[in-house]
Order: sequence, then C-alpha cells, then structure tokens
Amino acid sequence: MKPAEELKHRVNQFLDDSLSVQGLTVRGNELRQFLAGQIGLDLQEESNKTNVHTKYGKALGPSWAAYCIDDVVRTKKYMLGIMEAVQEAVRREGKTVHILYAGCGPFATLVLPLFSRFAPEEIQITLLEIHPKSHESVTGLIEHFSLEPYIRTAELADASAYKLPSSRVDILIGETMQSGLLREPQVPIMLNLLSQISPPPVLIPQCVKVSIGVLNPDRYRQDLSDDPEAPSCYRLLETVLSFDVSAAAAQTESWKRNPEDVRFPSKNITVPLSLLKEYPFLDLFTEILVFNKHIIKPHQSFLTVPMQIEHLPDQKTDFQLKAAFRLSPYINVQIENSKKDVSEFV
Ligand SMILES: C[S@@+](CC[C@H](N)C(=O)[O-])C[C@H]1O[C@@H](n2cnc3c(N)ncnc32)[C@H](O)[C@@H]1O
Repeated sequence: MKPAEELKHRVNQFLDDSLSVQGLTVRGNELRQFLAGQIGLDLQEESNKTNVHTKYGKALGPSWAAYCIDDVVRTKKYMLGIMEAVQEAVRREGKTVHILYAGCGPFATLVLPLFSRFAPEEIQITLLEIHPKSHESVTGLIEHFSLEPYIRTAELADASAYKLPSSRVDILIGETMQSGLLREPQVPIMLNLLSQISPPPVLIPQCVKVSIGVLNPDRYRQDLSDDPEAPSCYRLLETVLSFDVSAAAAQTESWKRNPEDVRFPSKNITVPLSLLKEYPFLDLFTEILVFNKHIIKPHQSFLTVPMQIEHLPDQKTDFQLKAAFRLSPYINVQIENSKKDVSEFV
C-alpha cells in the first residue's frame, strides 16, 4: 500500500463508528505509532519531550503533542466536528475553503481525515506550529504522505503573535488548551488570530465553557464506570467564561491596544448550603462544543477533567465567591473567597 493509502486506511479504522471505547483506544495507539514510525519521530527521545515556554504558557514537545491522539474521545470528536464544519463550508462557499490550524503538532492530527475526503481544489490548509521539532515533523509528514497539494503553507510561528498575510480564513482550528483553559495559550492564540480575520470564521472549537460547579466524588467514580453521557455526580452553577467568536470579538479592541487590558467579566456566584451537603467539592468544570453535536462533556477527556477549588464538608452557610478568567499576570481563573487560585491545584 502507498503511504497515503495506508494513512487513509488507518484514519478510517480509528473513525469506525462501531468501535467501543476500548477498541478506539487501541486504534488511537496504533495510529500514533504508525505516524511516528512513518516519519521517524522517536517519541522516547529526550529532546522530543522538551516543552517550549512562551509568554502565555507552555507549548508541548512533539512527543507529548503526539500522545494527544491517545485522548481518544477528544481526538475523535474534534475530527468528526472538523469534517462536518468543512463539509458545510465547502457546500456554502462554492470556492476553495481556507482552513487555518494553529498548534498543529507533529502530525496535524485533527485535520488528517480531510486529506482523503476532500480535493485540494476544495480545501487549502495553513499550519502554524511554535515548536521547531514539531514543525520539522509536520513538514516531514506532508512530504512523506504527498500532502503538498493541500497545504498553503506550514509556518514555524507563535500563533499568539503571528500576523496573517490575508484576512480571509473560513475555518480556524486550535487545540492548545488544558482543562479550564489554563496554562496553555488557547485564548491568546484565538484572540490574536480572530482579531485579524474578516468576516469572522467558523471557530473550532465553536465554544469552550468554563464553569463553577459542585461535585460528589463518590458518585463521580460511579458515573465514570456507568454512563458518562449523563452524569449525576456534578451540578454546574455559573459559567465563568464562554469562549466563542462573540466573546473574542468583545475583547478585540483591548487585545489590539494591549493584551494586558483584556478583562473578561467576573461573576458572583452563590453555592447554596443545601447543595454542598450533597456535593461537598467546589470545582472548575470545562465543556467543549467542538462543532454542532460534537461535544466533549466534563470528564470525558483530559481537557475536561474537573479541577478542585475547595472541599467544603463543614460549611454552615451558603458559600459566596467571585470568579474571573484572566490572561495576566498569567492565564488563570481568579477566585475571591478561596484560599488559593485554581492554577495552584493543577
Ligand atoms: C496540545 S498539542 C495538540 C497537537 C495537535 N493539534 C492535536 O490536537 O493532537 C498543542 C500544540 O500546539 C503547539 N503550540 C502551543 N502554543 C503555540 C503557539 N503559541 N503557537 C503555535 N503553536 C503552539 C504546541 O507546540 C503543540 O504542538
């Protein structure tokens, strides 16, 4: 089989609808090994495990970025969401759709299904990657699988500072985040790129919601083994940040003036005592709306693991707090009336 055909075959195997979560895990592992083997990326080599530290948090070394495939629910939902978004855009636009993928890692993982489903006349992709070794890998991958006709350019660049050569982008993709949108530069990257694109593109993920809620850890374990689609182990109380195209647009002027001026509104939250009796942990929750029905709910992926803020088993009154998402002095959800801020728990 030619490399491009084998790539198509492996990606299709991974996206096979009939796979159980265990089957998907095996396929994800195989896909990562296949890609690394094909382009000669040694995932055990120390230099490939070195992260790059940027103004807005860390950029993962190529080994860690490659292992993101193994967060299989994440990978599959992003791939399916992206395919659907591209399908809609190709139908709607009637001309070549320009896709900008920020933080593509060593394999451009999330757009791999597009290469066998669309023609180069339908889609053109720009890749941005800050880590020199991941950039080297992804350019090797493009050559190895003969993907050049699809690639407008693959730049070694910091996407949170990159100046776009043209304002026309139809779909903007990025997965440079961790739970709570903390520690990695998803928000600054999207603010920078969205502030240069007109008209606004389809953003993938369409929306990332960071909320304060309460959790019952015993039921949490139960839910993990039972039905992760309908968990009863947590209750969401208030959204701290709902990051989508409109939330980004509201910050564009501040971002352009000075990124330090970006201020997302703070929220006052009351946690009723009655709820704390049943759910004694106060947590930060993350939900990712990738595109349309492709949603990653809390604790379905490493990106949506709930993060503990407080344990309040002896609380005697309602608990009041104020929470705000901040980019500076570092990316964090600041919480007033809590002993620590959330970043100290991660
Ligand atoms: C979490 S990995 C995800 C890799 C791949 N997109 C995936 O979803 O499997 C994030 C990637 O974004 C890159 N990255 C982080 N910050 C960046 C920045 N400011 N500009 C460009 N790339 C960045 C990292 O080097 C890493 O390769």
